[in-house]
Amino acid sequence: MIHGPQQGPLDDDAVLAAYPWPDEGPWVRAMMVTTLDGASAGPDGLSGSISSDSDKAVFDAVRRHADAVLVGAGTIRAEGYGAMKAKDRDAAARSAQGQAPAPVIAIVSPSLDLPFDSELFTDSTEPPIVLTTARPDADALARAREARATVVHSPGDDVPPDFVVDTLVERGLRRIVCEGGPRLLEAVTRAGLLDEADITVSPLLAGLGHASRTDGLDEVVGFDLVHVLTADGFLMCRYVRDAG
Ligand SMILES: NC(=O)c1ccc[n+]([C@@H]2O[C@H](COP(=O)([O-])OP(=O)(O)OC[C@H]3O[C@@H](n4cnc5c(N)ncnc54)[C@H](OP(=O)(O)O)[C@@H]3O)[C@@H](O)[C@H]2O)c1
Repeated sequence: MIHGPQQGPLDDDAVLAAYPWPDEGPWVRAMMVTTLDGASAGPDGLSGSISSDSDKAVFDAVRRHADAVLVGAGTIRAEGYGAMKAKDRDAAARSAQGQAPAPVIAIVSPSLDLPFDSELFTDSTEPPIVLTTARPDADALARAREARATVVHSPGDDVPPDFVVDTLVERGLRRIVCEGGPRLLEAVTRAGLLDEADITVSPLLAGLGHASRTDGLDEVVGFDLVHVLTADGFLMCRYVRDAG
């Protein structure tokens, strides 16, 4: 850690402790990696090619005590997420906090164009939650209903971020890590729901050829810097929402 409360080398437990969740209330944190030129994916269209072992260590630490991993359907289609499985090392701590053995994946997908045969759906410890519109495409809905998933419908033609967060919190899933992609993160931010941004700056330029097309925000949203970790030229920055 080069900036923050525990400056010096950190072991795995100290990295975990550097990314605490509040004891009460909903908390939505973003976990994303960006290049120096603002790309969220490398030339292969994936975030792994702009990440590192140290970034992945923080990513894993943030997930360890999360209730829900929130992602947009575009990220699921691009990244091919593996199963979200319970890990022995976390079982006792999660149980003591009244948490399920593993985080549940929550996917925002109006189209329901999702890989329902993938191990994310078939092998995750907790059945994935898919949040979609009131009346999605009938064939896609039939596929979703056959899959090992909990399908939740918003009341209208879109899936507003506040509906998403309320749905998760009503299910006791109040520690929410939003892993993107940029379109979902922008919507969550626009709705004023983001409490924390855990952003890794990767020492790479990748160009913006794979940049997601988004509408942009009407105004900037400010954050306070809590800490900066560094390894191999990567900066792992933790920011919390600027109350002012
Ligand atoms: N650098 C990083 O840390 C990081 C993290 C995640 C992803 N990525 C990269 O980002 C790219 C994908 O990101 P993306 O921005 O294109 O996609 P995304 O935000 O992951 O997903 C977009 C899709 O999610 C649904 N969605 C998102 N926001 C919505 C909203 N407000 N209301 C309703 N539905 C919403 C829609 O699903 P339907 O299509 O089903 O209608 C939409 O097409 C990939 O290249 C991935 O590798 C990078």
